[in-house]
Amino acid sequence: MTLFIQNVGRGTSRLAELHKGDEVAMWGPLGNGFAVETDTPTLLLAGGIGLAPFRGYIKRHPQLGNLKLFFAHRMPLECYPIEAMAESVQSQCMIEETPEDLQGIIDEIGVQVEQYAEGGLILCCGPTPFMRTARKFALEHGARLQVSLENHMACGVGACLGCVCKNDQGKHTQVCTNGPVFWADKIEL
Ligand code: FES
Repeated sequence: MTLFIQNVGRGTSRLAELHKGDEVAMWGPLGNGFAVETDTPTLLLAGGIGLAPFRGYIKRHPQLGNLKLFFAHRMPLECYPIEAMAESVQSQCMIEETPEDLQGIIDEIGVQVEQYAEGGLILCCGPTPFMRTARKFALEHGARLQVSLENHMACGVGACLGCVCKNDQGKHTQVCTNGPVFWADKIEL
């Protein structure tokens, strides 16, 4: 098993301190995953460490020719597990170093989402503004989009309500047990 993490807080810094041979307790898998539609052209939209879930997705997908990966990132490409993925599926990477780059990425997401709106499937994982952008274009073009939320989770089993987001009815829903993957038009972002 391989874990891809970005060291950004207490939890991930403790993970980053682990050494080979250290023992940890873990349980899972918890929650749901992205839809797999073998024959549907599928666009994978990844922002930063949001690339991580697509590594396993690509490994398990039975029809790699139907996948395309679009990856927007801030750190150098060597920081991400992109190499093996780019060998398996068509991929496009854009780095964000300037405000102009950011606008270019936003524009490109719009172009890509429009291309997959008719008969396609779009899966997205990344920072919330990145997913919001994808959602905005998906709603605009009538595209089918799933997003994988990264809300902080404490219990993972639906009990603490620390992870909730709002659904399209304006009601709270647990991301850990009802997600983390949601159809983008069924939740608020
Ligand atoms: S993490 Fe506790 S309810 Fe989701």
